[in-house]
Amino acid sequence: MPDPARFVTVDDYEALAREVLPPASSEFVAGGAGDERTLAWNRRAFDRWALRPRFLRGVAAADPSTELFGCPLALPVLIAPWAYQRTAHPDGELATARAAARAGTVFCASTTAEAILEDIAAASTSPKWWQLYVFADRGFTAEMLRRVSSAGYTAVVWTIDLTAYGLRHRETRIGYQPPISLTTEELAYDPSISWDDLAWIREQAPGLPVLLKGILTAEDAELAVGAGADGIVVSNHGGRQLDTSPASLDVLPEVIDTVGGHIPVLLDGGVRRGTDIVKALALGASAVMIGRPAAWGLAAGGEEGVVDVLRILREELENAMTLCGCPTVADITRGHVSPAPVG
Ligand code: FNR
Ligand code: LAC
Repeated sequence: MPDPARFVTVDDYEALAREVLPPASSEFVAGGAGDERTLAWNRRAFDRWALRPRFLRGVAAADPSTELFGCPLALPVLIAPWAYQRTAHPDGELATARAAARAGTVFCASTTAEAILEDIAAASTSPKWWQLYVFADRGFTAEMLRRVSSAGYTAVVWTIDLTAYGLRHRETRIGYQPPISLTTEELAYDPSISWDDLAWIREQAPGLPVLLKGILTAEDAELAVGAGADGIVVSNHGGRQLDTSPASLDVLPEVIDTVGGHIPVLLDGGVRRGTDIVKALALGASAVMIGRPAAWGLAAGGEEGVVDVLRILREELENAMTLCGCPTVADITRGHVSPAPVG
């Protein structure tokens, strides 16, 4: 580990993760809500776009680096927040944070890691983001955000699509028990969150950009811009929340059209290939986030596994950029994709 002959694509890590994870954890990571239509659509949406390569542009080496909120990134791929990482590997979030730093990108820690938020912040010197779930107990939430600010996190990603827990039938069938209960009174996520809460969140974390994660419509994108969001993550929570909500990539164009370049728009859901990243950027995303691929890497090989997943994505992205004639991410344009004839 890593074995370049065995781990050629990101999906190769899924197979090893399934071997090493206890069955309940494996189902927790893999599963979506309901009939898992959205989970499947997230992948299929990428097949509905073809790449339009341009040639003779003198691209000797592609440079996938970019910048978000003043923070340089070696590649436009961030680690999405995902819960309970110590159930995937004993080093959990600390390993993922270190891996992201080694790859030159941002790790976004989940609220479910609240107990060790300072340890995660100290795990590397690279910038980290904090994913926020607003608890019914606002005092607890305010205290958490105060800790987030003083620990040095550089952005807050407010996840707005978990007003109820998705119907995850795999978890029910296998009897999955989360290591932290989300239904105990003190740790219940507040289902009554509203647009008004954005101002309150800002007050608790002054100076930090706040991104809204879970936007899936032009209407909500417009409200987000109007409410002063600093960024949007187009996301359906990896198909784990409302089944048959649309694939992230399918709604990216309407969100981009609405936002009109005012704030960065990120996308997650089904990103597994360098070509997926080029398609998302061509359709207007500033960067993408990966959830399950990071979980597979962590389960399979701890920090090294996550580093290797990011290496694979980086090499695939560089290859796709070179073959598309795009020396930098700024050169990836809408003209580099067209609807695919099949898929
Ligand atoms: C998640 N996701 C998630 N999102 C969030 O805002 N807070 C969280 O705690 C979690 N937890 C979580 C656990 C697991 C196991 C997974 C797979 C996902 C959603 C995550 O941030 C992201 O939106 C998706 O994972 C993106 O889709 P892919 O990359 O998994 O296809
Ligand atoms: C999940 C929650 C914890 O997707 O965000 O599992």
